[in-house]
Amino acid sequence: MEAREEWRSGLGFMLAAAGSAVGLGNLWGFAYRTQQGGGAAFLLLYVLIVLVVCLPVLVAEMVLGRSTTSSPLLAPVKAGGTLWQPMGWVFVIASCGILSFYAVLMGWTADTFFHSLFFGLPQSLDEATTFVTSVSKGSSVFLGQLLSLVLTAAVVSAGIRGGIEKIARWSMPLLFGLVIILAVWSATLPGAWDGYKDFLLKWDSSQLRNPETIRNAFGQAFFSLSLGIGIMVAYSSYLNKKNQLPKQALIISGMDTSVGILAGMVTFPIVASFPQVQEAVKGSFVSTFFVALPTGLSSLGITGQIIAVLLFSLTFIAALTSAISLLEVPVSSLIDSFGWNRNKAVIFSTILIFVIGVPSAISEDFLGKMFTYMDILLLLGGFLISILIGWFVTRTYDNDLSESNSNISVRRYLKFMLRWVSPIAIAFGLFVSVYDLVKSAIT
Ligand code: TRP
Repeated sequence: MEAREEWRSGLGFMLAAAGSAVGLGNLWGFAYRTQQGGGAAFLLLYVLIVLVVCLPVLVAEMVLGRSTTSSPLLAPVKAGGTLWQPMGWVFVIASCGILSFYAVLMGWTADTFFHSLFFGLPQSLDEATTFVTSVSKGSSVFLGQLLSLVLTAAVVSAGIRGGIEKIARWSMPLLFGLVIILAVWSATLPGAWDGYKDFLLKWDSSQLRNPETIRNAFGQAFFSLSLGIGIMVAYSSYLNKKNQLPKQALIISGMDTSVGILAGMVTFPIVASFPQVQEAVKGSFVSTFFVALPTGLSSLGITGQIIAVLLFSLTFIAALTSAISLLEVPVSSLIDSFGWNRNKAVIFSTILIFVIGVPSAISEDFLGKMFTYMDILLLLGGFLISILIGWFVTRTYDNDLSESNSNISVRRYLKFMLRWVSPIAIAFGLFVSVYDLVKSAIT
């Protein structure tokens, strides 16, 4: 077996972890979930869940990886004994499941990018429908899905330092810069204020009790942070003891949440500024991002086209750094469990994930269901992590954090939250999510 790799630096690790977190979940998913009507209540719940519930679990997931130096499949067993094997399976199944449809969405993004670049943007709603059909249906979908997976596989097979860390180092700063520029530009649109007001700032306290809003807030928090399925286990297993995990976790979640909100500040002014696209936004799974944005931007002529090209290339890069983290879970697990070399593990996992993704490539409806149901696995994974680290191997948590000299009161706070707040809150989130899904399946 090859010697286990290590990140070149703590910064490289953080950028890679932020690269995993920042992705379609922020750029497309945040807009999609916000326009389902939660408004400011959704935003508030989402940020609260990140800060109060997710942060302690994020640190716990990192501890699980670093203290065991094992892949997500084996880490739970190494930490807690064979009883915890199913948790490793949840991790591997969920990451393959997510990547299977994520690659399809990436393909749409690539298609939209090429379309905007070479053929221009749709000028009317009719054209928008044709546009989105050509992007999301037919053989171009498979081509996009395949291209996305092959690129992802190429980065992952180049390894931690040579592949993942390298790409995160240049793409993350670029991404931040671009999203800030676009948000500033969006703020100058005539409907900017209406956009913020209608989607991000509209306060309706009854939304705090709406199961759909609660499900969306939990789902968004976990999905966007890449939390609950061993991504951070995989990444932290290549991390040395010098790094202070709580601080890094805070920075990673700060970057992720700000990109989410900034992306909302890019999209909603555009949607609100162009009345003809508002209709298209209602309801559909793809609408805001893949229909409303290109159509709205088309009315700005060449500027609009440039913005669209920038926006969709940025989205693709963000998605790529997330997809590589998803692929790293099965890949590192195969390397760890069977002693395979990296290339063999990459090829095997990529083919498997392509095949699992075929139904999502064919049916938008199926893709939407995968996206919704995978949130349940993330919450379940997060719950199991907080129980394992918070209640069964608490000493591991203490030792790992004290060896890296993390501040004692931060450690105490995190441990308290991990034991008493996160599991209860996540169990509540799980219950409400399942209830909401069952209810909407019946009606
Ligand atoms: N967080 C990424 C996004 O926002 C997607 C992602 C990558 C993910 N790895 C994950 C989601 C693990 C859930 C779990 O687009």
